[in-house]
Parts: sequence; C-alpha cells; structure tokens
Amino acid sequence: MSKDIVIIGNWKMNKTPEEAEAFIGKLNLLYAENKAKILENVKFGIGAPAVDLAPIKKTNEIEGLIIAAQNMHEKESGAFTGELSSKIIKGAGANAVILGHSERRAMFNETSESVAAKARVAIENGLLPIIAFGETLEEYEAKKTKRVVKKMVQESTRGVDLSKVVLAYEPIWAIGTGKTASAKDAQNVCKYVRSITDENVVIQYGGSVKPENIAELMSQPDIDGALVGGASLDATSFIKLLTMNK
Ligand code: 13P
Repeated sequence: MSKDIVIIGNWKMNKTPEEAEAFIGKLNLLYAENKAKILENVKFGIGAPAVDLAPIKKTNEIEGLIIAAQNMHEKESGAFTGELSSKIIKGAGANAVILGHSERRAMFNETSESVAAKARVAIENGLLPIIAFGETLEEYEAKKTKRVVKKMVQESTRGVDLSKVVLAYEPIWAIGTGKTASAKDAQNVCKYVRSITDENVVIQYGGSVKPENIAELMSQPDIDGALVGGASLDATSFIKLLTMNK
C-alpha cells in the first residue's frame, strides 16, 4: 500500500468566518467534482484562524477533513487572557493543530520546549499536532541546516509520541518568497529528519508549494505531504494541490 500524503493549507491570518464558509462551500462542490482525480492515500485539511473553526466544521461535507487550529496553549484552562486551550479549539471543531510555525517562533517567542509541551497536551486531548520547524536563510547559507533542524526537531518532540504527529519541514527562506527548496534538497532534509526520528513518521515539506510543483515534491520518497500557505487560500488552487495539478 502506498504511504499517506497529508496536505494541509495554512491560511495564517486570512479569512473571516464568512469567507471561511464560502471557501468550504466551494470546496465541497469542487471535491465532489474532482474526487476521482484525488488518490485515496491523500489526506487533507485546513489550518484556520480559531474563529473560523466552527464555521468550517458546520459547512464541511467532506469526510475526514482535517480541521486545524494554528496554535493553542498547553494549559487546560485558567487565567491566560487571550489564549485558547486544546479543549476550546476541539470544542470549536478542530481535530488538529499547527504548532511551532516559524512565524510564531519568530514573532511570538514560541520555543521548541513549549511546542513539545503543547504537542503532548494536544495528543492527550485527541488532536493531531502538526509540528513545524526549519532553518533561516543565514543558517541555510552557512550550511547549518541539519544541525539546526536536528535541535529543533529533537526539542520540539521531546516526550511526544511520533506515531501521533505530523512533522513539517519549512525552510524559512522558502516561505512566502516564491523560492521553493529543490525537490532534491527538501528530500535530503526530510530523509535526515526521518533518520533522527522514526522510520514511519509523517514528514511534510512547506515553502512556496503550489499546484505546479506539488507532484514533484510529493514523489520524493521521504516527503509525505505539504504545508501550504498562499496556494491554499483559493479553493480552486487548493483542489489542484490535492489532484497534483491534474
Ligand atoms: P507559502 O506556501 O505561502 O510559502 O507558506 C508556507 C507556510 O508557511 C505554510 O505553513
């Protein structure tokens, strides 16, 4: 049997609840029309702003759709104004959560230790953590990718059951820049991540993935999916990611 391919759109800070509903309404139709072109081993979903989770769940007609929040707090409840617990996002409709995205690490002081703590709590509460990591342009140019990635992965998955997570390798220099890591480079890093984690762990690549390059990236033996920003915002483009641009 072929391995699962997990494709997640990360909307980042885009789409109001109304826009999220419109997207999912369109996706329901496009999915029905294109189902025959989507391989059975392709699993997919959307990482949405927290207030969009309930509208997505309500509008969705696609069985098995992954509905991911983009962050959560590791505590179950309490005096953490402005934060959302695993139970709150789950109650709103999430069955997954993106953790440790580079934007959160860079702009909101997210650390690998807190990512691991959040991932453990997410799993306890039945959510699928999608754990992101990746090197900066400076680190890439200094050929420090493997060293940096190793530290991030090991610290971000400490005490975490790797059979219950998705790992997402996102080189920061490839995010939103239109510069995709070559399929060969992405494959090399994902292969390395597999060698330091678990043979069966699901590893996504993210960074300027689009309908035109997804098939080549997904054909690499150690790339098991994609975390997609810009190209996931439009339902037609998102469906093309699922059909591998067919
Ligand atoms: P782009 O696909 O827009 O480069 O974003 C990648 C990303 O950060 C997904 O999490």
